[in-house]
Amino acid sequence: MILGQISDLHIKTDGKKSYRVVDTAESLRRCVAQVNALRQKPDAVVITGDLVDFGKPSEYEFLRMLLAPLAMPYYLLPGNHDERNALRAAFPDHAYLQQGGERIEYVIEDHPIRIVALDTVIPRSSSGALAAASLRWLDDVLAAQPERPTVIVMHHPPFTTGIGHMDDIGLAGEDVLALEAVVRKHPQVERVLCGHLHRAIQRRFGGTIASTCPGVSHQVVLDLDPAAASCFVMEPPGFQLHWWDAASAGLVSHTAAIGEFEGPYPFYDGDELID
Ligand SMILES: [Fe+2]
Ligand SMILES: [Fe+2]
Repeated sequence: MILGQISDLHIKTDGKKSYRVVDTAESLRRCVAQVNALRQKPDAVVITGDLVDFGKPSEYEFLRMLLAPLAMPYYLLPGNHDERNALRAAFPDHAYLQQGGERIEYVIEDHPIRIVALDTVIPRSSSGALAAASLRWLDDVLAAQPERPTVIVMHHPPFTTGIGHMDDIGLAGEDVLALEAVVRKHPQVERVLCGHLHRAIQRRFGGTIASTCPGVSHQVVLDLDPAAASCFVMEPPGFQLHWWDAASAGLVSHTAAIGEFEGPYPFYDGDELID
């Protein structure tokens, strides 16, 4: 199985650009076309939050149009820019969005990899939190099927990245510790897949690996000075493919850049092997 991951779409309407610079709709169109054109297409795609920029119903309607060409099922989760009810209203056919109570938390059982989504959103805040009830629910869900390889998906990553202005709007420290204690009990958790950081970052976490996905449009500047300015940069955007290698029972994660690049070229120069 291949599980695709895209993140931080920040869709706006009326041709408006994010921060007056980023054409996020065009970026998503390019991303969808590139994922659809992969020789090995994902069986499903998780979209790890910040789906739209201001949580407006019109933004979700536009998002739905932009995602319509995606050739495989996709699963949405909210980020700090999202509004849960507007999201649910625009995707009434996405039954999994109704699984939770107020929060958008769900389990997808349709694939060889089990997908468990957690909602880290605090309404009207950029920071994230995990409710005690969510952690109890997660523990129960994981305990129910200990043999099935599982990924947890959530918007805010459960670790400090060193990018100070993003860590300032991260997941609450006590919630990180509580999540880590739950995850550590369930070794079938192959990954904790996150967004929010607009960069590919990995860290050991609770006996597994937690990671963040590049943004579909703009990236957060790589600057580990705690006082670094809060800035983004138009580095190549990207997506990730998490390939479940059934033969070795391992999840292998690839990051690909979105865009048009020269090549591919063969590793041959005349009849001489050069690599
Ligand atoms: Fe974002
Ligand atoms: Fe975010």
